[in-house]
Amino acid sequence: MKTRILLSAIVLLCSAMGAMSQTINLPKVALSDTATLKYALEKRQSTREFDTSKKLNRQEIANILWAGWGYNRKDKRTAPSAIDRQEITLYICTQEGVFMYDAENNRLDVISDKNIMKICGTQPFVETAAANIIFVCDKSQSVNTEMSAVCCGAISQNIALYCASQNIGNVVRGSFDSEKLRQQLKLTGDQVVMLAQSIGYLVK
Ligand SMILES: Cc1cc2nc3c(=O)[nH]c(=O)nc-3n(C[C@H](O)[C@H](O)[C@H](O)COP(=O)(O)O)c2cc1C
Repeated sequence: MKTRILLSAIVLLCSAMGAMSQTINLPKVALSDTATLKYALEKRQSTREFDTSKKLNRQEIANILWAGWGYNRKDKRTAPSAIDRQEITLYICTQEGVFMYDAENNRLDVISDKNIMKICGTQPFVETAAANIIFVCDKSQSVNTEMSAVCCGAISQNIALYCASQNIGNVVRGSFDSEKLRQQLKLTGDQVVMLAQSIGYLVK
């Protein structure tokens, strides 16, 4: 009896530890009040050269993802989607691994601990970014491809403007091998990669 209880406790503990290691809670989103929209619009530009010595901390990751596609109301987001389908999911790749943004819970779900930065795009600079955000569309939820592309555009511009406001570089990209990404992101049936965005600190 004692052995069975002990074994059950070990199994419970192991599964709890496993569950914990599968998600990373993000800090509460904290955007600076000082950066103006005018400043962000003036600074917005594509950047293809990044300071490779500087990583994005969890606060910046939380802020960037929220700016792009977080919830700013109970069940609605910082970017619009056709008929409010909310068919896009953001994945974020860093040197530490591949993560899915769970906006509702403000956390990252760990997809893998692989460094796939090299396959996040076809241009050499992609690997040097601090993070690559991959926009995934669930086609079964989409009104049509055009509407989902517009939604991705809105999300990517939110991210671009947030980055510009913080002097962080970014470039939105349509160049990537979607099949390779599909495999590494572990996408299923109706999920397709629509867009990518490289993020990183500017070279001073
Ligand atoms: C839908 C879309 C796809 C793009 N794809 C790429 C890309 O694959 N690689 C890249 O370096 N830039 C890409 N860009 C960035 C454009 O090249 C860039 O916006 C343009 O040259 C204007 O420069 P600016 O953003 O600094 O104003 C893309 C932009 C958009 C809107």
